[in-house]
Amino acid sequence: MADDNDALRQLREALALSPDNVPLRLLLAGRLIQDGQLAEAESEYRSALAQEPDNRDIKTGLALSFFLQKRDSEALVVIEDLLAGGDVPARALIVYARLLERQGDMAEAAEVYYRALAMDAEVRDAGLQTRLEPHRRETPPSLRDEPEDDEEADEAMPAPVEFEGGGPAIPLERSDISFEDVGGMEALKEEIRIKIIYPLKHREMFEAYGKKAGGGILMYGPPGCGKTYMARATAGEVDASFLVIGIHDVLDMWIGQSERNLHAVFEQARNNRPCVLFFDEVDALGASRTDMRKSGARQLINQFLSEMDGVGESNEGVLVLAATNAPWHLDPAFRRPGRFDNIIFVPPPDEEARASILRLLLRDKPAKDIDFGLIAKKTAGFSGADLKAIVETAVDAKLQEAMRKGVPTPLETRDLRAAAKRRTPTTGEWFNAARNYALYANQAGIYDDILAYLNIKS
Ligand SMILES: Nc1ncnc2c1ncn2[C@@H]1O[C@H](COP(=O)(O)OP(=O)(O)OP(=O)(O)O)[C@@H](O)[C@H]1O
Ligand SMILES: [Mg+2]
Repeated sequence: MADDNDALRQLREALALSPDNVPLRLLLAGRLIQDGQLAEAESEYRSALAQEPDNRDIKTGLALSFFLQKRDSEALVVIEDLLAGGDVPARALIVYARLLERQGDMAEAAEVYYRALAMDAEVRDAGLQTRLEPHRRETPPSLRDEPEDDEEADEAMPAPVEFEGGGPAIPLERSDISFEDVGGMEALKEEIRIKIIYPLKHREMFEAYGKKAGGGILMYGPPGCGKTYMARATAGEVDASFLVIGIHDVLDMWIGQSERNLHAVFEQARNNRPCVLFFDEVDALGASRTDMRKSGARQLINQFLSEMDGVGESNEGVLVLAATNAPWHLDPAFRRPGRFDNIIFVPPPDEEARASILRLLLRDKPAKDIDFGLIAKKTAGFSGADLKAIVETAVDAKLQEAMRKGVPTPLETRDLRAAAKRRTPTTGEWFNAARNYALYANQAGIYDDILAYLNIKS
């Protein structure tokens, strides 16, 4: 023990002299883990990560220190980040296997464990192996011959299949709302105008400059903050057909002829130009989680990507929008240029936006002298959907009162205040998860907007 402390002291002293020495810091962190000083280890790994944000060994250590502190969701975020990046260290897979074991997913844990072992025999963990051995499948399916790296997998795929039409049609819609029905979100509106609406309306001008419209916009953010609503409003704004591919359509694609169905959707959009093609909850399609990486999923993703790239066909006049609550589960290949190269954070509405959303929500309800500014002030963190719920609660209360008294009276500020007091914003939980991804899996700063929103310095 004294020896241990001596070693730690020496390491610390050495590090004080050369604070930028990352290998030294890793050594210290490893010793701290052995010594059970987990919080200290975590903090050393964090400092190291600040110096080398892409270092996989540091991330592995950080994941381990989270795991040992029973902070499973943070550990999982780091592991998923490593998996998404490809070329995962065997030691990280061991942490992952232990996480899966703790979650009771023994079969998956065994699969991951033996994969780690095949990569590097030194990571053998006798205790873990004894527990996982009975759950080992005959031939671990996905582990042997599948390319792990996204780039490679993407490039190694055969060319997209040729199709002869067919596939189930998804109903085309016309949108009955436009930008003026959307409160706030001015920056997002402007982004959509520049990227989607102007190229469509001023095609000649774009052509004259040799610029091709293309690529899509991916919106992400907490639930209920207007992503789906905004997509609908975009379709209304350009007076285009609107094709929504929801989670169920995507899941249906998993069953049966998935690539063919996806192709049919894009064809349908191409045949109805101008058309806004909206993939809601797109992470269901492009998930990069390990369980989705098996061959069927990979093919669907590749089909999606080549449809987006417009391989063989032009996507002129097809505007692709997508939304997700979980951008971190999206395959990194989605973010390449020409695909979803615009990734936009849709935060909860700010005070001004809340006032305008409330105004819109009360537009055709009996109301008198509502102090929108006041209600907006009292509803920080509330999503558009939360505000809608507040208005509905207030209306219900008013309706009951009217039945009791036999006379209808208009909604007033205090009715809304009372309803607001009875609710808490639903966006908090999302930010708890998002914070972890933004801190530990923020490749190329894609989640900087989340950090800025949370007032965290990266
Ligand atoms: N900016 C806004 N202006 C007007 N209404 C809004 C706005 N944002 C949200 N709403 C209202 O809240 C409802 C929920 O929003 P929406 O379904 O678009 O959220 P979402 O971001 O797609 O959520 P999820 O991630 O859960 O799918 C909308 O139907 C709309 O009535
Ligand atoms: Mg939605």
